[in-house]
Amino acid sequence: MRWWVSIAALLAAADAPAGVEVVIACGSQGDDQVSCQTGAEAWAKSTGNTVKLVAVPTDSGQQLTQFQQLFAAQSSDVDVFRLDIVWPGMVAGHMVDLKPHVTDAELKQYFDPIVQAVTVDAKLVALPWFTDAGLLYYRKDLLEKYGQKPPATWQELAATAKLIREQERAAGNKRLVGFVFQGKAYEGLTCNALEWIDAFGGGTVVADDGRITVNNPKAVAAIEFAASLIGGASPKGVLNYDEESARGAFQSAQAVFMRNWPYAWAKAQNADSLIKDKVGVMALPPGGPDGKSTGALGGWNLGVSRYSKQQEAAISLVKYLTGPQEQKRRALEYAANPTIAALYQDADILKANPFMGTLSKTFANAVARPSKRTGRKYNQVSAELQSAVHAALAGTEQAGPALQKLTEKLEKISNGGKW
Ligand code: GLC
Repeated sequence: MRWWVSIAALLAAADAPAGVEVVIACGSQGDDQVSCQTGAEAWAKSTGNTVKLVAVPTDSGQQLTQFQQLFAAQSSDVDVFRLDIVWPGMVAGHMVDLKPHVTDAELKQYFDPIVQAVTVDAKLVALPWFTDAGLLYYRKDLLEKYGQKPPATWQELAATAKLIREQERAAGNKRLVGFVFQGKAYEGLTCNALEWIDAFGGGTVVADDGRITVNNPKAVAAIEFAASLIGGASPKGVLNYDEESARGAFQSAQAVFMRNWPYAWAKAQNADSLIKDKVGVMALPPGGPDGKSTGALGGWNLGVSRYSKQQEAAISLVKYLTGPQEQKRRALEYAANPTIAALYQDADILKANPFMGTLSKTFANAVARPSKRTGRKYNQVSAELQSAVHAALAGTEQAGPALQKLTEKLEKISNGGKW
């Protein structure tokens, strides 16, 4: 055990009751379960408690549905919930206010925009655990082989993907595809769609003042562009891909480019990875010379259920897991981006994850989904966006009419933009 773990454990031990079991729901993508379990067990051991992890679906929308059922039943089965950055407005009423349990100094360690995102009507719904931004992964070796540069625009990305795929296939590499991303109709597609739209200068679907802005020529051009990828730079299969299916293709050396979150870096760099040291990470490119480079803001936070019978122990666990020592361990082992600003100066973290330093602007300027403005209705907004964009990608509807219909639906959901 490293020294910092033992000090953190001692501190945690000071404010936790002993002899109870805390049940935590903390994700199931990539190494989510094992990384959470290691941290939770370190806390349990040092405080004389036990922890139990519950299995959750990988799809964040399905997780939310499952959790909302527990909340509706006021169930005490789960004490600690991992909450997506877009959920606080929807779940705030079911969470303990953590404000009285953290000092100002503790709260100040975290990036302020994330603290704002997990604060609903002055209630601190969760503590920031790790942050995410959409990134572009590329095969350095393949780009070099064909004399290609990392793409400066989305259009270049598509062209390079096609060129390398065609040449490689002609040379016998039959299974190689160009660009993989999350095209299934679920929350991941909302993130990809927001990135395309923002990259082409088409806004953020719903403006901060509540107006529905998604039906504009730049957003239409962005979705038309994305649709043009299917069957060209990207295989049709991406219409059913989530994060792990995209990573599966890239990790098995069968894709030139991949859009994914930071966790994919640690997996690519594993000792047994086929693509170890062959991968570059960069910001997603702008949609043409007038567009902007952007990545969707993601990330997860830990909150305590209001219905928990072990609130004191649960709060202690949450504080331990979101504290600097645990965040450092998870950054080193799993490329989980810290939510604590000071950790971006940490030499060990930057060595293990160089992109956390070089892409600091991407993380700082990541574009938020419109969850703050749409509050309780965010899930409906996201579901409508997913289905409109999926129809355009699948070619069952043109981008223009799809965004027009989406606007009509959002006008209704929001009561004319009043929300
Ligand atoms: C990642 C992000 C999360 C997002 C999800 C979509 O887990 O951190 O914010 O909602 O992907 O699949």
